[in-house]
Amino acid sequence: MAVVTLAAEDDFDGWRAAARRLSLAGVPAADIVWQVGDTPVDLFGGGAEPAAAAPGAIFSVPRAFLSLAETAICHRDPQRFALLYTLLDRLRTQPGSIDDEADPLVRRIAGMAKAVRRDIHKMRAFLRFREIGEGDERRFVAWFEPEQHIVRANAGFFVRRFATMRWSILTPELSVHWDGETLTEAPGATKADAPDGDPLEQTWATYYVSIFNPARVKIGAMLKEMPRKYWKNMPETALVPGLIAGAQAREAGMIANARAEIGGNSQAAWEALREEAKGCTRCHLYKPATQTVFGEGPVDARLMLVGEQAGDQEDLAGRPFVGPAGQLLDRALAEAGIDRSAAYVTNAVKHFKFEQRGKRRIHAKPDGGEIQACHWWIDQERMLIRPPVTVALGATAARAMLGKIVTISRTRGQQHTLADGGECWVTVHPSYLLRIDDRARADDEYRQFVEDLRNAGQRALAAA
Ligand code: URA
Repeated sequence: MAVVTLAAEDDFDGWRAAARRLSLAGVPAADIVWQVGDTPVDLFGGGAEPAAAAPGAIFSVPRAFLSLAETAICHRDPQRFALLYTLLDRLRTQPGSIDDEADPLVRRIAGMAKAVRRDIHKMRAFLRFREIGEGDERRFVAWFEPEQHIVRANAGFFVRRFATMRWSILTPELSVHWDGETLTEAPGATKADAPDGDPLEQTWATYYVSIFNPARVKIGAMLKEMPRKYWKNMPETALVPGLIAGAQAREAGMIANARAEIGGNSQAAWEALREEAKGCTRCHLYKPATQTVFGEGPVDARLMLVGEQAGDQEDLAGRPFVGPAGQLLDRALAEAGIDRSAAYVTNAVKHFKFEQRGKRRIHAKPDGGEIQACHWWIDQERMLIRPPVTVALGATAARAMLGKIVTISRTRGQQHTLADGGECWVTVHPSYLLRIDDRARADDEYRQFVEDLRNAGQRALAAA
């Protein structure tokens, strides 16, 4: 029996080195005991050091396995090391079996990786910092209880996202601390070690009330997405019952703006689609982003507005067009006589693409591959919503909708017919308007933008 002692629950490098050595030496999975730290080994006669590999032996497994294993190893299942080893050993002779989705082992490991990714997402979405100390002592502390061993895997995200803050994330197994320059680890903590509420929470609660949209509340979906176990550590959740209770009147007003009959099936299908998009990994942009920013609006909207991609604020809020460009869009829509809540607002690319410059996240333009990869989602959004009129805001949206690179000046003011029969109008992106320095020109461009929206809004009404 070979005993492998890994340094930590998520020690992928240690597992990989031992697994290579043992597989090369021909040791079957049943003859290996995997343990972490000094966890006692459950063996009859104690364990031996891992076997040595045959000299000159070559080792190769599909790259897809390594990335799957690196994620799945963060799962809490104690059998994960052995299961991964079994698959690795098999892949050496049958490399194609990694793609066999019907294979129970592949499915089990893929399921573990999925659970890990989901937990990583939950930590990014539901962790809340509380401020403590003053002046030089000021720092932010968060308490979180992950389901999987994801703290180390997720720490880089928080370093990038909160690079300027000094913070600590406390969890039962492991704590991580960032002092603005260095990330350090410490043992696990208890909830009592973390502060419980501060003035920041009041600001956050005010913000949450302002973005709370009762028409989008689906209690079942909300509980599924935001399990109650996270609620106790999130200041805004204390507000939710009251908001829901007061929601009916607001909801009635919003629904009055939509069609009288909402296709129940389309709504359910759209919600399922949005759920699915949360785990999108169709291109690399999901990695540094906080979350997928899916489209929003009624499923029977007659007008679809398509932007380029989520920006910095949209990435944090999880909703399209809520930052400066969104505010300008809201103003222009109102002037054009269009009720935003009756339109479906989405983006060609559903993750925020940015370059990290120092502490700031600078918007970066999505490329053709990213637009193409994300087309999957807008195609499905369109299939459900079937909007008769679409407005492409800016060149990236126009490229996504028309399927080719176009210039705004050549395509604006013309009716384009999309593959699904809907009509599409191209106009400028609101952030282009925000960048114009010359006041008179900015006013002029803005007026034209409002006219483009008005035209589209009227055509959408006529198409009813
Ligand atoms: N710009 C976009 O194109 N979309 C958004 O959602 C925000 C800014």
